[in-house]
Amino acid sequence: MMTPALTIQKKRDGKELTSSEIKDFIQGLSNGNVADYQATAFLMAVYFRGMTLTETVALTEAMLDSGERYDLSSIPGVKVDKHSTGGVGDKVSLILAPLAAACGLKVPSMAGRGLGHSGGTIDKLEAIPGYTAQLPKSRFEAALNEVGCAIISQSDQIAVADKKLYALRDVTATVECIPLIVGSILSKKVAEGTQGLVLDVKVGNGAFMRSREEARRLGKTITQVAKRLGVKCRAILTNMDQPLGYSVGNLSEVLECVEVLKGEKHKHSDLTSVDLKELTIQLCAHMLELGGVAKKLADGRKLAMERLNDGSAWKVFQEMIKFQGGSLDKALSPQKPRRTEIWTAPKRGFITKMDSRQIGRILVELGGGRKKASDRIDPLVGLVFHRKLGAKVQQGDPIAEVTLPEESSSSAVAGLKTTFLESIEISGTRKPVPKLIYEVVN
Ligand code: URA
Repeated sequence: MMTPALTIQKKRDGKELTSSEIKDFIQGLSNGNVADYQATAFLMAVYFRGMTLTETVALTEAMLDSGERYDLSSIPGVKVDKHSTGGVGDKVSLILAPLAAACGLKVPSMAGRGLGHSGGTIDKLEAIPGYTAQLPKSRFEAALNEVGCAIISQSDQIAVADKKLYALRDVTATVECIPLIVGSILSKKVAEGTQGLVLDVKVGNGAFMRSREEARRLGKTITQVAKRLGVKCRAILTNMDQPLGYSVGNLSEVLECVEVLKGEKHKHSDLTSVDLKELTIQLCAHMLELGGVAKKLADGRKLAMERLNDGSAWKVFQEMIKFQGGSLDKALSPQKPRRTEIWTAPKRGFITKMDSRQIGRILVELGGGRKKASDRIDPLVGLVFHRKLGAKVQQGDPIAEVTLPEESSSSAVAGLKTTFLESIEISGTRKPVPKLIYEVVN
């Protein structure tokens, strides 16, 4: 048997690991025979040397086998989920899970917390007072039967190796790596018992994949590995060169989702959530087609639009929040006023670039994300945008309204404002706004 050090060395030297070497290493991580520092060295070796498809399948299987696996076959209906590779302001899951359920699918969603600069669905939902993401399996199944969807966090029993590796990757600069992303996402998704998965692969300056090429490779790898594990999967490449929707911050993202679900006019921003709504409808159409509820994508779009516009998705959303203990009334009632600042355009022109990664990091600095696993999140801090890519601005026009932490020094806030203004490019000539949805990888 290979020792952990020899496995690390073999990968470090660019050699292909056998399935049993990978499985032994991952098992060692779960039972304490592999130390965190060895896991970290392994992650860095994989980051630099990559993995073949066979190695990636073995890694995913080993991560899956490190925990419990749900069997949802006794629950009637087709189970299809969506997962995003991570972005800024990406709140799609909050609308999509109830929408797809309202269209007839079962959505057993096991979601994550923030990773690096990217936000996490669970952190957003936990901005709703009382909401619990930790449902035991029996309640998870009851939610699927009674409500049609549930969004829960990974329990301590599911994909145990991913929990460890995810936390280590977050703090060791080893997130942006295709085999590690594939193993992480699929080990959770296969374990949750879904039959189909639509993967939203984000591309752009706020995504882990910066180029279309890389995103396509991730999409191809994940669909191939999913197929080997018996899950139907399709990847959609979508743009992340600007935050999605108008809000970035846990509670404000929930409020934006509620507005979209209720079809209300926006109270908080001059902007609308057209991009958020369009992406949600399109991903829902793919889920419906993948799950066989819709024959064609166009039929799926039509059904999704109907269920969003007739209030059915809003009804399911309310049921889901109630089932998981959350109080929407409390979330929607006015909060204790916080200090806010409006960050304005320093000159006139067109907004031609928004560094979304930097914007995600500003949210983390404000306390809306974590720098280390034990950090507590402040759900109220965040940014509400009034202008995004393509907008024409005059000097002094508001770009974002920022809700600050209860205690924040003026110099820290001034530093963040400088970083923010550096992350926004204003030019004399307009540049085309990137397409929202690029391509589908089957
Ligand atoms: N989402 C995950 O669950 N894991 C990753 O590695 C990236 C995004």
